[in-house]
Amino acid sequence: RRAMYVLGIETSCDDTAVAIVSSTGKVLAEVVSSQWALLEQWKGIVPALAARSHQQNLPLVLQTALEQSGLKSFKELDAVAVTSGPGLAPCLNVGLSTAIDLAQTHQLDFLAINHLEAHALVPRLLHKDIQFPFLVLLVSGGHCSLVLAKDVGNYDVLGSTVDDSVGEAFDKVARMLELTSENNKLHGGALVEAYALNGNPRAFPLTEPMKKKKRKDCDFSFAGLKTNMMRLIAENEPLDDVKRQDFAASFQRTAIAHLVTRTKLACELSTTSFPEIKHLIVCGGVAANSKLRDQMTEVAKSFQLEAVFPPPRYCTDNGVMVAWAGMERYLRGVRDDPSTTKYTPRWP
Ligand code: KG4
Ligand code: ZN
Repeated sequence: RRAMYVLGIETSCDDTAVAIVSSTGKVLAEVVSSQWALLEQWKGIVPALAARSHQQNLPLVLQTALEQSGLKSFKELDAVAVTSGPGLAPCLNVGLSTAIDLAQTHQLDFLAINHLEAHALVPRLLHKDIQFPFLVLLVSGGHCSLVLAKDVGNYDVLGSTVDDSVGEAFDKVARMLELTSENNKLHGGALVEAYALNGNPRAFPLTEPMKKKKRKDCDFSFAGLKTNMMRLIAENEPLDDVKRQDFAASFQRTAIAHLVTRTKLACELSTTSFPEIKHLIVCGGVAANSKLRDQMTEVAKSFQLEAVFPPPRYCTDNGVMVAWAGMERYLRGVRDDPSTTKYTPRWP
């Protein structure tokens, strides 16, 4: 029989993304439309406006993906997969209702996908040799967790953030330091990384979070580091570009040190119980950070693991990860019922 095709729809946050993948692991189409203008105007995401923008963009994004794929109609698909959580309720709602409509109109199978699972599984599309179990460090704007992936749908969460995510911390620091780029088309995290390039990472005395007691879990915390930054910035005003660079570098060094400490512990725990583990996957938007990549490569090596970093376009929110997570589940016989599926803004 011919290859199977799954369409993926992602609208959980501020990117409207659609992709089509085949069961042989080919990406037939991938289209992303981001809401930079809205973000810039409102200095952040306004859920109702983001949802309206998804509503406006999704039909064209879907049509473009169909044309890119070379398929003649949505009828040639086997299934539609959609992020149904976690994420912003009104945004999830747009993707979900569109996906349900597509599935019912064209009589396609339907899969409701967990956004985080999608981030964690997409590396298997890109590297066919990644077998379960493997370790995942998921570092994005909404999430920060260490997960032992034992199989599709079978995950041990070794740790997650007790307050802010690491991406959120990067974004807030970029705002505190009033960092800007020429075209304003950079995430806060990318701005911090760019400024840090020319800064002194030891200019300001920031302490690594959760350093005091030796913890057995792999949880993260970034709220304290953020408060620390706020206090130090206030003490050093007015800021000039040299100070901005030094602050960015100091923050980046400390945030990454925290990620490294927790990831080492996770590597230790999981390679002890599962010596067959071969890969440490680092994904989510923050995985675009090259200092983080360098250090995680070293961490992995010290545990005889290979560090895998999906390319940036598969690290930030995208449709391919949803389509692929759908395919992984589809191939295992999973089907969801479009008539009863609800979106789940808080889905662990
Ligand atoms: O995965 P993603 O696109 O969205 C979520 O699902 O959250 O991640 C976006 C996050 C933002 O917080 C952004 O500041 C951060 O990833 N980010 C970075 C870098 N590029 C993006 N953080 C650190 N360094 C970067 N180069
Ligand atoms: Zn994401």
